[in-house]
Amino acid sequence: MKIGVFGGAFDPIHNGHLHLAREFAARLSLDKILLIPTFIPPHKVRSYMAPAQLRLQMCRLAVEGDSLFEVSDIEIRRGGASFTADTLKEISLQYPGAQLFLITGADMFLTLGTWNRFEEIAKLAVLCAAPRDEYNSEKLLDYAKTLEQRGARCIIQDIPLLKISSTILRNKISDGEILEGYVPEAVEDYIRKYGLYNNHNNQQTLNDEQFIEIIRGRLTQKRFEHSLAVAEQAKHLAKLYGADPEKAYTAGILHDIMKDAGKEAQLQIISDFGIILDNVEKNLPGCWHAIAGAVFIEHILGIKDRDLINSVRYHTTARAGMSILEKVVYLADFTSADRDYPDVGTMRNLAATDIKAAMKYGLSYTIKDLVGKSMPIHPDAIHAYNEIVSAIEKGGTDNGQKE
Ligand SMILES: [Fe+2]
Ligand SMILES: [Fe+2]
Repeated sequence: MKIGVFGGAFDPIHNGHLHLAREFAARLSLDKILLIPTFIPPHKVRSYMAPAQLRLQMCRLAVEGDSLFEVSDIEIRRGGASFTADTLKEISLQYPGAQLFLITGADMFLTLGTWNRFEEIAKLAVLCAAPRDEYNSEKLLDYAKTLEQRGARCIIQDIPLLKISSTILRNKISDGEILEGYVPEAVEDYIRKYGLYNNHNNQQTLNDEQFIEIIRGRLTQKRFEHSLAVAEQAKHLAKLYGADPEKAYTAGILHDIMKDAGKEAQLQIISDFGIILDNVEKNLPGCWHAIAGAVFIEHILGIKDRDLINSVRYHTTARAGMSILEKVVYLADFTSADRDYPDVGTMRNLAATDIKAAMKYGLSYTIKDLVGKSMPIHPDAIHAYNEIVSAIEKGGTDNGQKE
């Protein structure tokens, strides 16, 4: 068996990559091409990069239905710096007896001699590259000779390259251009769906105004108004209990961002980012939007503040050990101006005066409601309830400022 090993950031994967791989497969009679998106260490991740799970997913979409390709998450799964020597070794163990061909771009090829444990790489795989032009071709052939003196086997193939690069594509996307012909259709759809590479230069500077525009486009009118009301209420409660009012406001805007996306889309983004739902969660579709929402604001909107992400993540179930911000957002969702249920008055009074009593009331209300409907209860909610009940027993109620 002859296997082509083709690694790269694939940010995003495009038809130039696929063309190169297919040409090598045809010319060298390869049976399979392994596409291996590389893990990028956090300190090297630039703001415009797509998260690893999305790059992986785009590779999968790009070659769906094409039996020549297989997408491997071997490096992303490892989740740290990967050395090509280790990757090749693992592949050779997975496919005993297979002959491996490492496919590299021209620039990459010209550095191969300096790679970590080059001799091992050279032993494990035949090194393949395609020149960019005639001048480049000479350079590659010369360099191949020096590598061969160190025991490598090299194949330089004159493959006409497509004039595409991931950098050009990212710029086109951020300029709103159509990518037809540059990437497989499924990849283009995916990029649009998640708004990847959009305004990639100012991704980190999104402000509340922009967040409001984003949710306006994603939510029904009713839910949009609810979100703004929760934001107001969260800010108000944050001031009462000593959480950051700005953060609380932002969390309120974003807390239901995935709620109207549809169950399938919620599950999709959850699995795209490698989150595995446990058995209870699988049966609690009501909490999916909170998990999906946390993923969305972290990975798609580029929010880095863990407390803010958690306050979206736990706004439906709550959990033991909640921060003040998490509690504030949880309670704001219960008591925002648009809310209208029999106990809302009591709940609002409690939220304004005693955060512990309010949490206990909110949790009891939700749990009773779920039991009444014969619905499962998320263990996080039970843990939160147990914690708050024993805290009240021990210390009485208070306004939460001592926490
Ligand atoms: Fe919600
Ligand atoms: Fe909500």
